[in-house]
Amino acid sequence: MDDYQQFVISVRKKTGIDLSQYKEAQMKRRLTSLYEKRGFKSFQEFFKAIEADQALFHEFLDRMTINVSEFYRNAKRWEVLEKKILPKLLERNRRLKIWSAACSTGEEPYTLVMILSKLLPLSQLSVLATDIDDNAIRRAKLGIYAERSLQEVPEDMKKKFFTKEGMYYKIDENVKNAVTFKKHNLLADPFDTNYDLIVCRNVLIYFTEEAKHSLYHKFSQALRPGGIFFVGSTEQIFNPFSYGFETEDTFFYRKID
Ligand SMILES: C[S@@+](CC[C@H](N)C(=O)[O-])C[C@H]1O[C@@H](n2cnc3c(N)ncnc32)[C@H](O)[C@@H]1O
Repeated sequence: MDDYQQFVISVRKKTGIDLSQYKEAQMKRRLTSLYEKRGFKSFQEFFKAIEADQALFHEFLDRMTINVSEFYRNAKRWEVLEKKILPKLLERNRRLKIWSAACSTGEEPYTLVMILSKLLPLSQLSVLATDIDDNAIRRAKLGIYAERSLQEVPEDMKKKFFTKEGMYYKIDENVKNAVTFKKHNLLADPFDTNYDLIVCRNVLIYFTEEAKHSLYHKFSQALRPGGIFFVGSTEQIFNPFSYGFETEDTFFYRKID
């Protein structure tokens, strides 16, 4: 067994995180550059150091998770959500069950709430937002962002839902209160069911084909018939029917009734 495969087994035992379900070349490259930067010569040496040093362990988690996000990421898609997808979902049901899976530092679930608030009173909204990374969830709950993550936020929404504090922007408390954050590992933890809308963007690209197939099935089972699965703008599903989906719009899939 090679150095990396041994590392994958050790990490799985220590954390429950299964690196073998992430694309190997990409993950190996990211982690090798980290351990070399820290002066280690092999994954084995790196793992021993991770076990002894909590800060290094967190640095490893940070490097493997990639938390890059922004509000209204690929803004045109959010427009489709607002104008086409949500009105249709709301025709059937005024209380939508919504999950932002792999939500990173919160920009995605907060974008959902801001858009939904145009269609429903904020007090009636609730979105579940999950991620594998505790640090990202902690930052999401803080709700304080640098200007660069707000670039795509429409001016009226920026005025309504953010307060500028020094160099940072603070998200409105009512938007914050509409989101429940939880830690959840997509590759290991069970999924709840009966969702009207699941947003899972820019994480499946990091997984192997097998892991992706299994997740598409799980997301499909987690949606109620007619529910919508919203994916990232490089993540179209090539054979949606095999998972019980039909294409509703580019990057939106409807679970077949
Ligand atoms: C690039 S961010 C995407 C954030 C947001 N969805 C977006 O599109 O802007 C990827 C997120 O996936 C999370 N992630 C990676 N592996 C995961 C797993 N197995 N289960 C849940 N979240 C995971 C990372 O922690 C990171 O926050």
